[in-house]
Amino acid sequence: MPLLIRNGRIITATDDYIADIYCEDQTITRIGKTVEAPPDADSRGMTTIDAAGKFVFPGFIDPHVHIHLPFMGTHAKDTYETASKAALIGGTTTLIEMICPARSDEPLAAFQLWKGKAEGKSACDFTFHMGVTRYDSAAESQLREIVKAGLSSFKIFLAYKGAFGVDDTELFHTLKLAKQLGVIVTAHCENAELVSELQKQLLSEGKTGPQWHESSRPESVEAEGVHHLMTFAEQFGTHIYIVHTSCKPAVQQALMARERGANVWIETLIQYLLLDKTDAERPDFEGSKFVMSPPLRDKRNQRYLWDGLNSGAISTIATDHAPFDFKGQKEMGRDDFTKIPNGIPSLEDRVNLFYTHGVKAGRINLHRFVYAASTQAAKLFGLFPRKGTIAVGSDADLVIYDPAYRGRISASSHHINIDYSAFEGWEIEGRPHAVTVRGQVQVKEGKFVGDATKGKFLTREPNHF
Ligand code: URP
Ligand code: ZN
Ligand code: ZN
Repeated sequence: MPLLIRNGRIITATDDYIADIYCEDQTITRIGKTVEAPPDADSRGMTTIDAAGKFVFPGFIDPHVHIHLPFMGTHAKDTYETASKAALIGGTTTLIEMICPARSDEPLAAFQLWKGKAEGKSACDFTFHMGVTRYDSAAESQLREIVKAGLSSFKIFLAYKGAFGVDDTELFHTLKLAKQLGVIVTAHCENAELVSELQKQLLSEGKTGPQWHESSRPESVEAEGVHHLMTFAEQFGTHIYIVHTSCKPAVQQALMARERGANVWIETLIQYLLLDKTDAERPDFEGSKFVMSPPLRDKRNQRYLWDGLNSGAISTIATDHAPFDFKGQKEMGRDDFTKIPNGIPSLEDRVNLFYTHGVKAGRINLHRFVYAASTQAAKLFGLFPRKGTIAVGSDADLVIYDPAYRGRISASSHHINIDYSAFEGWEIEGRPHAVTVRGQVQVKEGKFVGDATKGKFLTREPNHF
């Protein structure tokens, strides 16, 4: 059905102007000062949205989420039914989920399993990074099939040995294959052996609470992981995307590799920009709500991360959404912080928090905001210009954003399926007024009003040769 958006202030990574946008057949077909809809548009059920006084952003992309996630003896709580609607309410129109098979799983079966969890159940568009958690000849030939089937990024873990983590021989072969196939490798960088030994040491000293999680995975452990990975990647020139970078030393290792000529991009998370390690020190085990890996850091890192986003040194802002309830799940680690399921959910709130504490607080401008939360992910992961911008021919994924809105985040009103919010009570200054996915209005005034099965699997071509 046709869609006409009147008088919005259109913001992309490069442009800022007031215009009308007309969409047909799921794409943007015209942009102009005053766009006249075709005479039969009304009889074909055209929707008109008055966007005067509002921003129109390209649909936001979250390039790092977990929805189906068997992890640390439990499962993440969201499904596509809950997560995709919550994402849309928060302005995110495309999800890139990590496929995280167990070492014993076959990659092709895992791809089918994860895809099956999303197909027909997602309200927003989605695709996947293929987790490489084992490398042998069978895995290699299946990975080649998966790339042909439309996934053009891998995910590797240097942490979580015995679960998702690969050893150095597997790392070597994965990076070599990725280069050959033109696939970018996304990577969780922490030295697994150091983490394991530090955990044992802390526990033996009786340090069992969530406040010790950060000490078990200090900044240097993350920086070493980045350095280790880049040393391997540079042997082949493999393109690398370092996920959830939390601190200055880790960013610096990636930037040093970039200076040496490596192709490396850096992701940070909204959690690292706004929360810090003192949150994991909250009493009565409340700190467990703030346990994720890499951990929340000393606050002094935040300025450096904001500056990195501003300068473009840091490319993207994601959520690493990994939702585990406080009751029954985080509580699994009451007597031992190493058993607290890792993850701090933020899928629904990323855009509003980034707008409030980035744009409104004067830390970043509107173009950087769009670039880091949408455009750059689209470019890196083979979705641009279909996604990540507002242009004739692009998918009509649009966020009509109301900067006058004021509200507060709360677990009592959020739409993700989890019993707490790490941002409980935080004020937001702006929210999506309406959100469209390929021309269909999915959200109005904070409510999901659309088609719960509209979302489709986005196939992507390798673009990192
Ligand atoms: O703590 C985290 N980050 N949980 C999700 C799994 C991962 O490492 O991305
Ligand atoms: Zn990770
Ligand atoms: Zn993750």
